[in-house]
Amino acid sequence: MNTGIDRISFYTSNYFVDLKTLAGARSVDADKYYLGIGQEKMGIPPPDEDVVTLGASAAYPLAQDGELADVELLLFATESGIDQSKAAGIYVHGLLDMPARCRVVELKQACYSATAGLQLAIAFVARNPGKKALVIASDVARYELGSPGEATQGCGAVALLVSSDPRLVAIEPESGYHTEDVMDFWRPNYRSEALVDGKYSTMVYIHTLLETWKQYARESGRSLADFDRFCYHIPFTKMAEKAHQKLTRKLKAPVGKEELETLLAESLRYSRITGNCYAGSMYVGLVSLLDTSEEDLSGKRIGFYSYGSGCVGEFFGGVVRPGYRDFLYADKHRNLLANRAELTYQQYEDIFNYGVPSDGGEYVFPQYKTGPFRFSGISQHKREYESLVD
Ligand code: CAA
Repeated sequence: MNTGIDRISFYTSNYFVDLKTLAGARSVDADKYYLGIGQEKMGIPPPDEDVVTLGASAAYPLAQDGELADVELLLFATESGIDQSKAAGIYVHGLLDMPARCRVVELKQACYSATAGLQLAIAFVARNPGKKALVIASDVARYELGSPGEATQGCGAVALLVSSDPRLVAIEPESGYHTEDVMDFWRPNYRSEALVDGKYSTMVYIHTLLETWKQYARESGRSLADFDRFCYHIPFTKMAEKAHQKLTRKLKAPVGKEELETLLAESLRYSRITGNCYAGSMYVGLVSLLDTSEEDLSGKRIGFYSYGSGCVGEFFGGVVRPGYRDFLYADKHRNLLANRAELTYQQYEDIFNYGVPSDGGEYVFPQYKTGPFRFSGISQHKREYESLVD
């Protein structure tokens, strides 16, 4: 029985900062960002967006299409949690008016957690054919102003509907996975910005890739030549390119510029202009690949490398299903990305410093442009969400 990704929908904030603007403010050559790390824009959430509104807005098109009626498992993957007890997915479940017969849980392991969610969801639908699971990966990537990570910030959410007989990508059973206790990137509970040992994190990312590939190759008997495209975790697009180059060199089959472009470029298009979406990042790569590839990818095998600092990594494969193009939300994604508003440096800094109040007070947030849902305020220590649709 095939199991895997049946539908996929992406959402990001309606605001962005061009990294040329950031480069000007930081007295850095813009090419360091555009070429050196391969990023052009970073998505910035206004005060009335959070991981709940990003996630609910990502899943909204599925709700509109009646795709959530058979969902009995909702896994919400995030490292930007809003509560130590209540799963953010329960707010999403409410906003989308999902059936009460549904298990809802939040998952955390840095940027890896959506892949854990996908694998758990696949096990669920394999045991319960006909039922569906929804995995939502939603994050806000936030580093200190002026820090090396700042230019890689971003935000966004991906909603993955998981089913048997999936319409988009059948996920294959073989997998290589690797856990190691390292401190490359972390965010203690008392901080709203991540701490990162940047160069070290890039080394651990690659070390984990090599370990997971070794296992995967042993288990599946496949070689890199069996793959038509790759989707990497994308903290910044250059990281994915470098990782693939390292892997192919290690396997004594180095790729040239043109081949690298064919294998990766389509998957990097959206991330280049949204920034890091942490848990959703690799899946933003998948949406980008499926939406923007001019080639019909039916029957093509995609290699996935998911990485979450701390760290857990996983390499696995999936095959694109015939007719997948009829089930994409490509136009919606294109419109969203084309119609975002650009922030000035000062507007960015003001929004950054606004943060989410943590003094337990009563707040009503200013209304910015959001998707169908907004984070309207805090009252009696409770987050309040507003639906802008019927
Ligand atoms: N023109 C062209 N290229 C330029 C340039 C210019 N004017 N100036 C610099 N560059 C190049 C540099 O040569 C360098 O390229 P190489 O890596 O090929 O040498 C590149 O731009 C970046 O420059 P630096 O190495 O000087 O950059 P930095 O040290 O200021 O920051 C970073 C890089 C440490 C990765 C930083 O972006 C960071 O801390 N990021 C956050 C952590 C991160 O993303 N880690 C990735 C792995 S961990 C993970 O994946 C989990 C996650 O999501 C966070």
